[in-house]
Amino acid sequence: MKLTASTLVFVPLFAVAHNPLLARHAKVARQAPPASPSQPGSATLGAPGPTPPVASPATTSTPEPSVTLLATNPTAVPLTQIVSNAPTSVTIPLPTTFTAGSVPSSLPNAPPLPDAKSIVLANYPPPDQRPPTDSPEVKQWIAEVANSGVQIPNISATKEGGCPANTDILADDANRCWWTCGGCTRSSDITSCPDKMTWGLTYDDGPAFYTPNLLNYLDEKNLKATFFAVGSRIAYAAQTLQYMHMTGHEISVHTWAHPPLTTLTNEQIIAELGWTKKIIKDALGVTPLTFRPPYGDIDDRVRAIAKAMNLTPVMWTRIGPYATFDTDDFNIHGGLASSQKVLNNWKDIMGNVSSMNTGFIVLEHDLFQQSVEVATGYILPDALAHQPPFKIEPVTVCLNKPLGDAYLETNDNKTNPLPATAAKGSPGSAQATKASDAVKGSNGASSGTSLSARGVVTSIATVILTLSAL
Ligand SMILES: *[C@@H]1O[C@H](CO)[C@@H](O)[C@H](O)[C@H]1NC(C)=O
Ligand SMILES: *[C@@H]1O[C@H](CO)[C@@H](O)[C@H](O)[C@H]1NC(C)=O
Ligand SMILES: *[C@@H]1O[C@H](CO)[C@@H](O)[C@H](O)[C@H]1NC(C)=O
Ligand SMILES: [Zn+2]
Repeated sequence: MKLTASTLVFVPLFAVAHNPLLARHAKVARQAPPASPSQPGSATLGAPGPTPPVASPATTSTPEPSVTLLATNPTAVPLTQIVSNAPTSVTIPLPTTFTAGSVPSSLPNAPPLPDAKSIVLANYPPPDQRPPTDSPEVKQWIAEVANSGVQIPNISATKEGGCPANTDILADDANRCWWTCGGCTRSSDITSCPDKMTWGLTYDDGPAFYTPNLLNYLDEKNLKATFFAVGSRIAYAAQTLQYMHMTGHEISVHTWAHPPLTTLTNEQIIAELGWTKKIIKDALGVTPLTFRPPYGDIDDRVRAIAKAMNLTPVMWTRIGPYATFDTDDFNIHGGLASSQKVLNNWKDIMGNVSSMNTGFIVLEHDLFQQSVEVATGYILPDALAHQPPFKIEPVTVCLNKPLGDAYLETNDNKTNPLPATAAKGSPGSAQATKASDAVKGSNGASSGTSLSARGVVTSIATVILTLSAL
């Protein structure tokens, strides 16, 4: 069956700042879509909750200097039309859909593809809302985490509001390693691709209405990416997710309702990750071994819970306390960034990349029409024209691993031991290893900057709490 417009999906109506550096952990109020994208005013479904913030239009007083790109797509939407209040543009259908039982040629030992029709929202928690923690499924995942052998550090949840709301805990950050304020990472975090001129291509927050437009362009250029899927959106777009999987893209976890994870309880974190793992497994037959925390919001508590759930964090490259490889493409839709500003951010990234000794990972999104149009019209053509050429790959592949290492069922357990299994093999060692990790500076260009001045964590005073005590 061809994918039709009415089988999809999401036109979130809010604007939320997506820049983790500026502490905007605004409550994420995503609304479910109108039944048909041709009636954007008719949205009534969706999560109750706070009224979405009203976006202020992009500033017109100080226009961005225009950038010169190496190449653009001849069919690109003009930048002047990639704006927050742009009329709905044409969606391109998926080139094909796949029948149950198919196996991706990129993963010959993958389980057969489930029937997309088996994915119905009624079998899952409400979309874009934090799942309850008292369901049988979540209780089981809580027990599995408790039995994993991974110890969860007893550090408090952060308060909503990011850095300014949490100044009291920042002095103690060595014991928490909170990425959001200052960019602390552990060696277990994936923050870049090891090889110079290699781009681990990623898109977050879908699958959504314009994701097939992006997939068509990626097909045309024979590019493969990693998609960080929001679990509840898969229920609206299982065929899109199946198309990605069957055509060699990598699928990873991006939570059920897109909250800043450090603000949640342990059980809520488990529910967010667990339901997203489950719906991906239900839709594809495979269970991701990686995840990206929304807003990059991760600390040692979230890391430990994720590890216990066999999920390795994938961040995006950070070159200083206030500079990450974030295009800010997410914010065009809400009017908080102009498409010209996004291209300026992209050119800054390109400028920094040429002096880096490693590859890189950039934050981009397939959720909105505008971010897809900037990607297919400008960013990807510019990247493809880069000299020396970039190697553009899904994250797991850019790490020089087989794509099969991305999933539990296809993982080569000999060369790529599962995180939680490794912890179980030597009880207690997981936290000790993690705690003695250096607080790494960012990878790449300015690794000698103030991030590394945080130095090495030499002691960990953090009280350790096993989950079973919760
Ligand atoms: C965890 O930390 C809190 C706050 O410091 C403390 O009250 C509590 O007793 C600790 N729990 C355990 C099991 O150590
Ligand atoms: C690197 O990025 C920063 C912004 O993060 C920008 O100010 C700087 O100009 C970039 N460097 C180059 C060489 O483009
Ligand atoms: C790796 O281990 C997992 C979990 O035990 C298992 O499901 C999977 O089949 C194993 N991978 C391979 C290729 O055998
Ligand atoms: Zn996101």
